[in-house]
Amino acid sequence: MEAVNVAIVYYSATGTVHALAQAATDGAEKAGAQVRLRKVAELASPEAINANPAWAQHLQDTADIAEAALDDLAWADVVLFGTPSRFGTPCSQLKQFIDTLGPLWAQGRLADKVYSAFTASNTAHGGQESTLLSLGNAFYHWGGIIVPPGYTDPIQFRSGNPYGTSHVTGDGPPTAVALEAARHQARRAVNTAAALKACRAA
Ligand SMILES: Cc1cc2nc3c(=O)[nH]c(=O)nc-3n(C[C@H](O)[C@H](O)[C@H](O)COP(=O)(O)O)c2cc1C
Repeated sequence: MEAVNVAIVYYSATGTVHALAQAATDGAEKAGAQVRLRKVAELASPEAINANPAWAQHLQDTADIAEAALDDLAWADVVLFGTPSRFGTPCSQLKQFIDTLGPLWAQGRLADKVYSAFTASNTAHGGQESTLLSLGNAFYHWGGIIVPPGYTDPIQFRSGNPYGTSHVTGDGPPTAVALEAARHQARRAVNTAAALKACRAA
């Protein structure tokens, strides 16, 4: 059967969500999927970026990652979104990309795909769940098939977030547990999409 296509669409200012996105890429590829890792466009001013050396450095380090386009979503069977938490909601950069998806939505081309999301916040109760649930609103509107990680693998009892992989940036870079949770989340999304694809082809 044809491989499952996965688009991983994310924003990261200082690298946390980028690391989760890379782990999700690894998990999806190891599950046999074809993956497009795509960042969304930066919207912040050079002044704001350059005021934070970690932000400027990460932007430079990821210059070679392609920016997300509508075709990436049209192509995908699975879309995984990654965003830092901004006051308990997704960042404006990712939201701006989502707001360009009207033409695909109007053609029904966002429906029936598998969706899942991951995030990071600076503090443990800083809005990870609300950020993921907020993204879920869009998935409902699109007629998406939401596949959260739940507690479907032992790693979930260690990472602790059934809504989607998340990491507390204030504790340092993503731990091995967070990265494995991201791999599991991607693998589960791919396996679900593969089952759907097989049913649809039958
Ligand atoms: C405008 C703004 C709002 C933020 N709001 C929150 C928040 O409500 N709670 C929190 O814990 N962290 C908050 N943060 C911290 C970010 O979520 C954190 O730095 C981010 O997860 C790092 O991800 P990145 O390294 O991928 O950019 C905020 C950061 C910014 C710039």
